[in-house]
Formats: sequence, C-alpha cells, structure tokens
Amino acid sequence: MLNLHGKVAFVAGAGSVAEGWGNGRATAVLMARQGAKVFGVDYSAEALSGTTAAMEQEAGADWTGWLANMTSTEEVERAVAECLSRYGRIDILVNNVGGSAPGTPVSMSVDEWDGQLDRNLKTAFLGCKHVLPVMERQFAAEGRGGAIVNVSSIASMSFQVDGRVHVAYAASKAGLETLSRATAIAYVKKGIRVNSVVVGMMHTPLVAHRLTQQLGTANAEDLAAKRNALIPMGRMGDAWDVANAVVFLASDEAGYITATQLVVDGGVTAARPGNVDSDAR
Ligand SMILES: NC(=O)c1ccc[n+]([C@@H]2O[C@H](COP(=O)([O-])OP(=O)(O)OC[C@H]3O[C@@H](n4cnc5c(N)ncnc54)[C@H](O)[C@@H]3O)[C@@H](O)[C@H]2O)c1
Repeated sequence: MLNLHGKVAFVAGAGSVAEGWGNGRATAVLMARQGAKVFGVDYSAEALSGTTAAMEQEAGADWTGWLANMTSTEEVERAVAECLSRYGRIDILVNNVGGSAPGTPVSMSVDEWDGQLDRNLKTAFLGCKHVLPVMERQFAAEGRGGAIVNVSSIASMSFQVDGRVHVAYAASKAGLETLSRATAIAYVKKGIRVNSVVVGMMHTPLVAHRLTQQLGTANAEDLAAKRNALIPMGRMGDAWDVANAVVFLASDEAGYITATQLVVDGGVTAARPGNVDSDAR
C-alpha cells in the first residue's frame, strides 16, 4: 500500500518553522519512508537543516535539501533543473508553502495582502508552472505522468478561525483550491492528477511558535486547550495527519482521484455550532 518506490517527490516548504514536525517536514519524511527519492525545497537554511537531520535518522532515505524562494520564478526553475539533474524525473509535487496573517481589507496593508497572495498562491502557481512540463514529457515518453498535491486550509471555507479574520489567507487558500481543480482539468488527459489537502487546526510548530510568541507560554497553553475543545474530535491534529493525506493523494492508490479536496480537520467544518458540545464553544 502507498508504495512510492521509483518515484521522485519535489516537496516545496519541506522545512519547519521551529523544531518538531511541520506539515512539509513530516510529508517529506513519510514519502522517503514509502520509498520515494525526495527533493525538498525551503527558503530557510535552518528550517531545511532540521529536515536533513530527520532524514539522517531514516534508514535508506534518499534526500536532497535545496534552498530556494518559491515566490521567485527563476529560483523555482533552477530548483526543478537541479532536481532533474540529480534524479532525472519528478513524479510528485507537493506545494506546502504557506502561512496566515490576520486582518480585514481595512486593517491590512497592501504589502501584507500581496505577501499573503504570494506566499499561499503564487508559490503553488510557480511550482505547477515549472513541474507540469516535466510530468507532461514523462507521460508522453512512458505513459507515467504525475501527481500534484496542494496544501490548503479550512480558512478557505470557514472565515473565523481562532476568533480572528484572515481575509487574505482565506482568499489565497480558496484561490489555491480553485487553481488545483482548474489545473486538474487542464491536465486530466495528460496523466497528471491535481488535488488539495484542506488542513484544519493542527498543532504544528508554526502554531505553537506563533502562539507562544504572541501570548506567552501560559496563555498559549490555555489557547491550545481552547482550540482542542473547538474540534468535534476533541483535539487538534498534527503534521502526520496531513502527511498521511498528502501521501495517499500522491500515491497510485489515488489514481482515479483528481480535482478534489480532502479535508483533514477532525470534523470542524462539518459541525454546525449547535452540533458541537456546548462546553466547547
Ligand atoms: N499548522 C496549521 O494549523 C495549518 C492549518 C491549515 C493549513 N496549514 C498549511 O500547512 C502548510 C504548512 O504549515 P506548517 O504549519 O507546517 O508551517 P511551517 O512554517 O512550519 O512550514 C512551512 C515551510 O515553508 C517554508 N517557506 C515559507 N515561505 C517560503 C517560500 N517563499 N519559499 C520556500 N519556502 C518557504 C518555511 O521556511 C517553512 O519551513 C501551509 O501551507 C499552511 O498554510 C497549516
């Protein structure tokens, strides 16, 4: 099941903003465990070195870490060329770069808006732009195309996460899901599948780090407990929940699945306020 032997995975945002398991790091490691050769890209040397250290603990992992900013078309093009020169092909693309900034159209600066769109949407556009032609060539030559998985957020459909509004994050993640579906249809006859994983409230290092910085340790723990209580399953998920979903969508077992969203949220988006335990609200 979920055998990725013989596949090369290009994982964008393969680091983690703090020690521990971010979604991209867990995805890269799980792909290596399933037999893929993994080319991981991140713009932070520190974030990437943590993934390299994790890969060193994995017997037989074939991993290359590469520094590049996924908002730069030249840097993405170079990263793709480097991946091809090392591994000769790309079967899987994971666009995991992203992150939120709160605000309304009035409170956000134009730079903050542009930054959110660049970080959450342009990065995936550029990943697709430079990897799709590679997958298309592979399909024409040997009948094997590829799979693209974009990492989205429930912010695309529930507009008050954590009691705060994030209009640019919400719009960019909704855009990411639409980019996925439209690209899936554009490439459906070329052997390339494109899907999104729609991530709920996960307790990744990004969240712990940001909450601790913003609120101090005691309040961060308090807020983590409140976030747990908001979820029908009673707990936040973690990076492995995301990685498992990404690996499934990237695998041959998902071969008939394209242009869709896999929601990984412990039931949050399906629960109406009245369905959630009243103590939890
Ligand atoms: N953590 C959550 O609760 C949560 C919820 C919903 C969605 N998500 C999504 O999951 C994804 C990963 O989140 P995470 O919590 O693991 O975050 P993270 O910040 O730990 O991981 C993202 C990685 O991307 C890298 N990165 C950022 N901008 C980059 C750029 N321009 N070019 C190259 N690398 C860049 C960072 O250095 C970092 O290593 C994001 O798309 C995020 O929106 C997370």
